[in-house]
Amino acid sequence: MEKLGRIHLNRQVMAFIFMMVLVQVCSEPTIRYSILEETESGSFVAHLAKDLGLGARELAARSARVLSDDYKQRLLLDPETGDLLLREKVDREEVCSTVDPCVLHFQVTLEKPVQYFQRELLIQDINDHAPEFPDRELLLRIPENSQQGTQFSLNLAQDLDVGSNGLQQYTVSPNPYFHVLTQNNSKGKKYPELVQDRGLDREEQAELSLTLTALDGGSPPRSGTALVRILIMDINDNAPEFVNSPYEVQVLESSPPDSPVLTVLARDADAGNFGRVSYGFFQASDEIQQTFSINATSGDMRLKKKLDFERIKSYHVEIEAIDGGGLSGKGSVTIEVVDVNDNAPELTISSLTSSVPENAPETIISIFRVGDRDSGENGKMVCSIPENLPFILKSTFKNFYTLVTESPLDRESRAEYNITIMVSDMGTPRLTTWHTIKVQVSDINDNTPAFTQTSYTMFVRENNSPALHIGTISATDSDSGSNAHITYSLLPPHDPELALSSLISINADNGQLFALRALDYEALQVFEFHVGATDGGSPPLSSQALVRVVVLDDNDNAPFVLYPMQNASAPFTELLPRAAEPGYLVTKVVAVDRDSGQNAWLSFQLLKATEPGLFSVWAHNGEVRTTRLLSERDVPKHRLLLVVKDNGEPQRSASVTLQVLLVDGFSQSYLPLPEVARDPAHEDEDVLTLYLVIALASVSSLFLLSVLLFVGVRLCRRAREVSLGGCSMPGEHFPGHLVDVSGAGTLSQSYQYEVCLRGDSGTGEFKFLKPMIPNAGIEIMESPHCRDSFVFN
Ligand SMILES: *[C@@H]1O[C@H](CO)[C@@H](O)[C@H](O)[C@H]1NC(C)=O
Ligand SMILES: *[C@@H]1O[C@H](CO)[C@@H](O)[C@H](O)[C@H]1NC(C)=O
Ligand SMILES: *[C@@H]1O[C@H](CO)[C@@H](O)[C@H](O)[C@H]1NC(C)=O
Ligand SMILES: *[C@@H]1O[C@H](CO)[C@@H](O)[C@H](O)[C@H]1NC(C)=O
Repeated sequence: MEKLGRIHLNRQVMAFIFMMVLVQVCSEPTIRYSILEETESGSFVAHLAKDLGLGARELAARSARVLSDDYKQRLLLDPETGDLLLREKVDREEVCSTVDPCVLHFQVTLEKPVQYFQRELLIQDINDHAPEFPDRELLLRIPENSQQGTQFSLNLAQDLDVGSNGLQQYTVSPNPYFHVLTQNNSKGKKYPELVQDRGLDREEQAELSLTLTALDGGSPPRSGTALVRILIMDINDNAPEFVNSPYEVQVLESSPPDSPVLTVLARDADAGNFGRVSYGFFQASDEIQQTFSINATSGDMRLKKKLDFERIKSYHVEIEAIDGGGLSGKGSVTIEVVDVNDNAPELTISSLTSSVPENAPETIISIFRVGDRDSGENGKMVCSIPENLPFILKSTFKNFYTLVTESPLDRESRAEYNITIMVSDMGTPRLTTWHTIKVQVSDINDNTPAFTQTSYTMFVRENNSPALHIGTISATDSDSGSNAHITYSLLPPHDPELALSSLISINADNGQLFALRALDYEALQVFEFHVGATDGGSPPLSSQALVRVVVLDDNDNAPFVLYPMQNASAPFTELLPRAAEPGYLVTKVVAVDRDSGQNAWLSFQLLKATEPGLFSVWAHNGEVRTTRLLSERDVPKHRLLLVVKDNGEPQRSASVTLQVLLVDGFSQSYLPLPEVARDPAHEDEDVLTLYLVIALASVSSLFLLSVLLFVGVRLCRRAREVSLGGCSMPGEHFPGHLVDVSGAGTLSQSYQYEVCLRGDSGTGEFKFLKPMIPNAGIEIMESPHCRDSFVFN
């Protein structure tokens, strides 16, 4: 390189010498020297002394000075040689900038005499600068619709060198779109101008980068580069286009509102606003606008409301996409509604009978129609009712059904039916509709009232207060309403003599029975009657039951002494032979009690006696016997006070007064009145008569006894057959000390009575036997239990 430079320099020096010759010949006034810029300091410029025609010494003697007009001492004189030398390196660009040629004026001043010489120094350019772009990168925005041949002026590059060393031309890196022209501007500067060779498409290539090179004319040439970035500006040259149009989509009709249908997508190759697409419906009907929505930004199509396959089976929706520049593209969406089993079957009742009389033959309860708005399997239906009901479902014609009774109904076994009709379709999932029909079975009076018991037994204690509630009968009727409304009544008694209406009354509504008046056990121990229960149906049905009223005994009767009779003005007198053995039966007190049971169990007791130790009374049979032998010392007249008590509560009693006369053998006359004295002869007559009477009485009483026995046995048997309590109380055992004079048995209203008697040998006098107690019929029967009833001595 250095070598090359030196050769270069030598050539310049040669040229310079040649020019010096030329100047000296041609130019008179000013002499111009020439140097190359950037020449080293101290370099030779010119032989100044020689030029001035002076010797080197003279030059120095005359104080030669060189003054340049830019006040910079760039030149100096070599005093030795008188040569003009370069004081320092000169940069042409610094001295002259763009001025060309670059001439530096200076003058040489001499003294003694003063002389001035004008000289010029031409500073020649060398190619020491490369072209340079002010910006390393140039940005150029070109709309994509820019036409072929369009020129784009670019900023120029600078080259400080001048002339052929200055900037000569521009080139650009090879590309299909642009080439570059080097143009002159008004100032003669060269600037690059890009010329478009072909159409641009931003969508194809949005940006180009070219390398722009500026070349100068030096040798070798120098260059400078800059990067040209070309941004191809978008224009709205593309309409949006739907990607998959026409769209087809299936949507279940059951999809809820706001569920997505699909997302449409339109592409617009443009950028920015021109590529920003907004979606919408195109010429959409009201129906579509009410059913679908589309998100303008996202293209998301959604349901606005539920679809209904049964109404509309498919939609055809025109959609549109518009970009920011107003270009639009169209598409379409076909939405198939997919049937879902979303409609439960429907059931429409067209006729309904809510009440069916029981026992009615086949009756139509309801006629109804079923329907399902779904289609296909979803719309097929089956209809059923529960199996265990006495109803059947008949399909009449196309979806019409009739519900009829299968057999006559019985209200009493079931009065109400809830018939649930179930209609299901065959879809998946199955949808089912239930409808409940309530059927009332109306009542027919087909049930008679039924008494809770076939017979009732009521117990009433005698002497009851009037209007006493004695019991309640009750009947039920399984019908309902007035058919079950029961009225109770007393039926006329079978026994015409029973004055039932004066004894008993009944509450017709509730069956309560009342005793109308006080009952008397002694008069009426038991009675029966029938009660009726009648319902309110039409015709009414009735039934009856037997009521048996048993009157319970109260101890309201004191014992009644039959023997000896107590209403005589004087006490009854018994005769007692003085020769009687101990235990001799003096007499037997006979008493009855009209009550029964315990109330009639009598006991006898000796209360007072003239001589207490002489007599004793058997408590249970009233026998009065002597306890020891009699002696002459015993007073002839004895008075005994006995008391007869029953066992009732409260206890009642009667007292008996007896007189006993001690007589010496039976020859002693009977003295009815102890106060009256009798003569012994008369007494003998009396004794004779007495024996006669006794003999007669014995014979006749034996006869009477056998007749009574016979009758009694017959009666007892009959009584057992009738089994009305009888005179017996089976299982009861009377205490030993009591005498059962049980009148147990019916006290009939007639005063009849029968007496069973046991013949008892004894020496007592026979008295009479006839009704003595008014209003008291005593039925005494010969039976194991009443054998001991009456003992008459
Ligand atoms: C620019 O100027 C030069 C000389 O100054 C001339 O040769 C050249 O033709 C001109 N170029 C244009 C394009 O005008
Ligand atoms: C539309 O979609 C965009 C982006 O998905 C969302 O931000 C915007 O809220 C939506 N507009 C409506 C009205 O839903
Ligand atoms: C029928 O349904 C009603 C309520 O709807 C209920 O009160 C009644 O007890 C039901 N009857 C039967 C027999 O199930
Ligand atoms: C005693 O009473 C009974 C019954 O009341 C009667 O028949 C009888 O005549 C009366 N005797 C005398 C003596 O009054």
